[in-house]
Amino acid sequence: MGANTLTVTDNRTGKTIEIPIENDTFDPMPVRQMKVNADDFGMMSYDPSYRNTASCKSKITFIDGDKGILLYRGYPIEQLAEKSTYLEVAYLLLFGELPNKKQLDDWVFQITHHRMIHETIRGFIDGFHHDAHPMGMLISSLAAMSTFYPEAKQIHDPEVRKMQIYRLIAKIPTLAAFSYRHSFGLPYSYPDDELSYAGNFLNMLFKMNELKYKVNPVLEKAMDVLFILHADHEQNCSSTTMRTVGSAHADPYSSMAAAAAALYGPLHGGANEEVLRMLRQIGSKDKIPEYIKRVKAGEVLLMGFGHRVYKNYDPRAKIIKNIAEQVFEVTGKNPLLEMAIELERIALQDDYFVKRKLYPNVDFYSGIIYEAMKFPAEIFTVLFAIGRTSGWLAQWQELLTDPEQKISRPRQVYLGPSTRDFVPMDKRK
Ligand code: ACO
Repeated sequence: MGANTLTVTDNRTGKTIEIPIENDTFDPMPVRQMKVNADDFGMMSYDPSYRNTASCKSKITFIDGDKGILLYRGYPIEQLAEKSTYLEVAYLLLFGELPNKKQLDDWVFQITHHRMIHETIRGFIDGFHHDAHPMGMLISSLAAMSTFYPEAKQIHDPEVRKMQIYRLIAKIPTLAAFSYRHSFGLPYSYPDDELSYAGNFLNMLFKMNELKYKVNPVLEKAMDVLFILHADHEQNCSSTTMRTVGSAHADPYSSMAAAAAALYGPLHGGANEEVLRMLRQIGSKDKIPEYIKRVKAGEVLLMGFGHRVYKNYDPRAKIIKNIAEQVFEVTGKNPLLEMAIELERIALQDDYFVKRKLYPNVDFYSGIIYEAMKFPAEIFTVLFAIGRTSGWLAQWQELLTDPEQKISRPRQVYLGPSTRDFVPMDKRK
């Protein structure tokens, strides 16, 4: 018996098999040999929502959920947030190493010069009702973009892939900003090539009649850091969606529309919007204990708390809490911050949350900063999607270049009726 193996015995038959262990994982295919008779299909593993199943090998992002550690390609998120820029981090995620000066200059040049969107795409955005949710507009316009770049289907051509990566990272802030301006009936503000990635985004959102939009450096830096913090988070729901759709060899625009749709859900990227709604619903600090009671009774969730992987403080939440102070010096304090801090204080002392290891996640404080920066709640998830674009694309690229990957196709445990004859209408109950 090899030392680096798992021995599995089927107590129904006494059959024993040995399965090799690699990277602390085992391949479940050999358990298919475990049968009670020749007609038996054989055993499978059952893991709804992938609680303990690795679906890929990855070199992009590492999370130690118990210790609250997050690394992009080995670099701690705290160092990247402090010393890097979003575009540099996007390059790191996509290409594996921090860029040298020339690589960074070329990369920034490419992204800067692909920011414009086709005027017809602008026309799609125009077609939405004024109160359409910006995530709905973003998802639809991402999917629509696949019709503009039919060559994007050549997903195995590295040069074609690279071009779509430039386009997606460059254009997603433009799509987001145009959706925002449309919601308010404002004229679109076009990209300004002299501004940074984050600075230009703020320009496209907030420029009014001034000839040149003046970017506040504190808000520009905060926006950039927020993009960095959201850039990747290994195999989360939306990245898994990106990989799943990508595994069918769909083009990156269609795959990313699907990933963005997953992000839209309130249990994922939609949570930051829900946090503000929750804080408003609570109303004042003295009502917090009452709300906590409802959470513990299972009536409502404490939005912005809990995580599938982090069983400790989400390191991104810590960084966001610090940036909040700098942002509030410019914007003035968001009155919801005090409530959030009090809610966190009470929750972290409560046995219910302590026992379940529920801590604030990235969404708990991000909404409060966004609101102070004058973003309406509906656009919060869109801001998340802009940052996450580099991660989605890095995961997609890794999937396509991994020879072990095939089309995603889980098994099921069928518990429905066995074969039965069709019942004519007049015989049905
Ligand atoms: N409020 C109250 N109770 C909670 C919360 C919460 N926010 N999160 C988990 N729990 C409880 C569950 O009810 C469960 O209790 P039980 O053991 O008595 O049944 C226990 O903690 C374990 O929770 P699960 O639901 O099994 O955890 P899971 O890993 O499936 O869910 C999730 C993780 C979806 C993030 C969950 O914590 C949640 O719904 N949080 C609120 C929404 C949120 O903030 N989402 C953003 C996540 S970060 C991101 O996607 C960017």
